[in-house]
Amino acid sequence: MTQADLAINGGPKAKTVAYSRPNRYGELEKRYVIEALDEGALMCTRGTMVQRFEKAAATRFGTRYAVMTTSGTTAIQTALAACGVEEGDEVVTTAVADAGTFMSILTLHAIPVFADLSPDTVSAAPDAVEAVITPRTKAVLVVHMAGIVADMDAFLAIGEKHGVAIVEDCSQAHGATWRGQCVGSLGRIGAFSMNESKHMSCGDGGFMLTNDEETAHVARLFIDKAYVRGKTERGEEMMAFAATNSRPNCQSAAIALAQLERLDDNIGRRAEIASRYYAELSGLPDLRFPRIADHSCPAWWPIPVLYTGDAPTREELLPVLQAEGLGITSALSPARGNLHTPVIRNRRFYPYSDHLPHFLEGVSFEEGACPVADQISRQVLRLPMDHRFTDLDITETIAGIRKVWAACVTG
Ligand SMILES: Cc1ncc(COP(=O)(O)O)c(C=O)c1O
Repeated sequence: MTQADLAINGGPKAKTVAYSRPNRYGELEKRYVIEALDEGALMCTRGTMVQRFEKAAATRFGTRYAVMTTSGTTAIQTALAACGVEEGDEVVTTAVADAGTFMSILTLHAIPVFADLSPDTVSAAPDAVEAVITPRTKAVLVVHMAGIVADMDAFLAIGEKHGVAIVEDCSQAHGATWRGQCVGSLGRIGAFSMNESKHMSCGDGGFMLTNDEETAHVARLFIDKAYVRGKTERGEEMMAFAATNSRPNCQSAAIALAQLERLDDNIGRRAEIASRYYAELSGLPDLRFPRIADHSCPAWWPIPVLYTGDAPTREELLPVLQAEGLGITSALSPARGNLHTPVIRNRRFYPYSDHLPHFLEGVSFEEGACPVADQISRQVLRLPMDHRFTDLDITETIAGIRKVWAACVTG
């Protein structure tokens, strides 16, 4: 293979057909949405579909409680509130992940503290997390990045040792397991997104899992303006604390229920695709695949592999790969690094002014504080992953990467 064969130089594209992405919603989603409509009540406090989804989710993921919400971000925000996170508390999170991870902390007027990543797992490193724990730390948000399960033995031990709540962000890891237990069921509470890029989707939505009754109860109040619904033996008053409205609706729950029933097939197909990538590409020079702990089972998301070469650079390589028609991208999350976002870098909180809220006074964020995350952001290439891809999609993707490597990467 020579440079002249590359599509960027006028050669034939490795990817001959568009990636297969048939409609992920079908008859099952329609049936459940119609059932919800037929009830004539779409509010979660009136129709039954949200409860149906929550019951099915708790059963599938193995927890006593599931609480549905409007998004992954509101699920994390609610989860943290239910763990007692208050103004000025610190919550340790990942240096690179979706903005929902730290926006949910900030909107509780708590302080996000960013821990560096491990180059091995492309995920938060337990020792880096422990290094930034202080007496003000209330919780650690453990993100199972890209469906790869974080070292939960280490994180649970950190939680015990320092008396901090472990909150799992499973927004990219639906159905992944650690020692046979589903992620989201290991820490005090787990939060999931169901936006459309996820293993299961209702367009936008989220949910939480917990085994702790009080945590589930407070979470329910927090998403419902602290309304006390139905009969309560707790003698609680309505609106006992400040809370928002992140209530899900029944039409979203109907779609989520159908998608939950498809989850095992979806993650099974993703596992087949991932094993082909690992088997057929991991020997290529200057290409490093994330390490997977033996006793974990990922729920695969676009795989973040690291390109460690420098001639060509990642920036030079990427357009060559994309010209072949390959669905490879170069960001672990839209925000490349949370410390580099204006909201964090400039402690900019409000849309119309530079007014600094009290809880951020005296707080500083050092842009270069997470050098491994920055290095990973410069090296990462995300391999396309979707349960709808055909074998041909994967064969052509692998062939395309091999073609580009043969022409450009000498190792
Ligand atoms: C790791 C992670 N956390 C949180 C979120 C936020 O989820 P949502 O977009 O549903 O608010 C996402 C969404 O992409 C995510 O990937």
